[in-house]
Amino acid sequence: MLKRSRPYSGSPARAGMNAILEGTMPTLTPVKKAVLPAAGLGTRFLPATKAIPKEMLPVADKPLIQYAAEEAVASGIDTLVIVTGRGKAVIEDHFDFNPELEGALAGKGKKDLEKMVREIANMARVCYTRQKQPLGLGHAVLMAREMIGEEPFAVMLPDDMIRSEVPCLEQLLRVYRATGGAVVAAKEVPPAMVSAYGIFAAEPVKDRQWKGRLFRVRDVVEKPKPAQAPSRLAVIGRYVLLPEIFDFLEKTRTGAAGEIQLTDGMRELAHRRPMYAYLFEGTRYDAGDKLGFLQATVEMALKNPQLGPSFREYLRTLPIRRKR
Ligand code: G1P
Repeated sequence: MLKRSRPYSGSPARAGMNAILEGTMPTLTPVKKAVLPAAGLGTRFLPATKAIPKEMLPVADKPLIQYAAEEAVASGIDTLVIVTGRGKAVIEDHFDFNPELEGALAGKGKKDLEKMVREIANMARVCYTRQKQPLGLGHAVLMAREMIGEEPFAVMLPDDMIRSEVPCLEQLLRVYRATGGAVVAAKEVPPAMVSAYGIFAAEPVKDRQWKGRLFRVRDVVEKPKPAQAPSRLAVIGRYVLLPEIFDFLEKTRTGAAGEIQLTDGMRELAHRRPMYAYLFEGTRYDAGDKLGFLQATVEMALKNPQLGPSFREYLRTLPIRRKR
């Protein structure tokens, strides 16, 4: 169970919704841009990532980063700001037109494939900014400041692959539209795992419409030791943030692991503006980790309409037995 403190009774979530319905709340700026940090060195995935960006490793038949891009578009995002670095240019090629390839596919009558590669380039407006030094996730997000401007925006960590009926980011945007606050995806993790995540200090919002999934965030700590963790409610890599966070990130000093942490900017924001943690519905894979990546690959391949049936049959032939 989560270490729950006193329930939050003010129900700003309901108040926000009522204010919108009554027309007494200023119209919220819609969230149209998402930042996808992709500048990391991928050290957890060596040697595969020595010369290939981790974001381009294929999970079933698509590169990892395309799953986050598709989730963004399915959630109503129209602009992706991808934060890259040295050796990541192939990500730009992936989201660009490829006239030679399209011409060759057209020449062979492979219309479906031609359409598919073109759609990847057309799915959203994509812009790039570079993080010249690996100074941390908070610093990577700060590199997008000029492209985001003064609007609320999403951050999506491509390593976190989320399979769900309603796209995870769309789930967060529903909370944003009802509350006007910042919203971060959350998941309960075992005590031994808290030091791998940002961990919230949060109180459940007692309002039946949220079915116990919404929490008001009081604080958030990056990768605490189990004894110091305020709960077991962990940050998962989908965020809806308010533009004020950039001022806090500018002032943030190096924190956990000697890096400028997004979590440290978030805690400043949470101290000044409403922030919520939302226990999203869906399954999350840590595809930046070798085992998580394999799990995501197997599940995505099974779900794939073309690959799924024969892959399932193949898996059944494997001599996998439970140890007695
Ligand atoms: C990052 C964030 C952390 C969050 C995690 C989710 O950590 O800093 O707060 O819980 O993503 O995947 P990383 O996994 O990059 O170390």
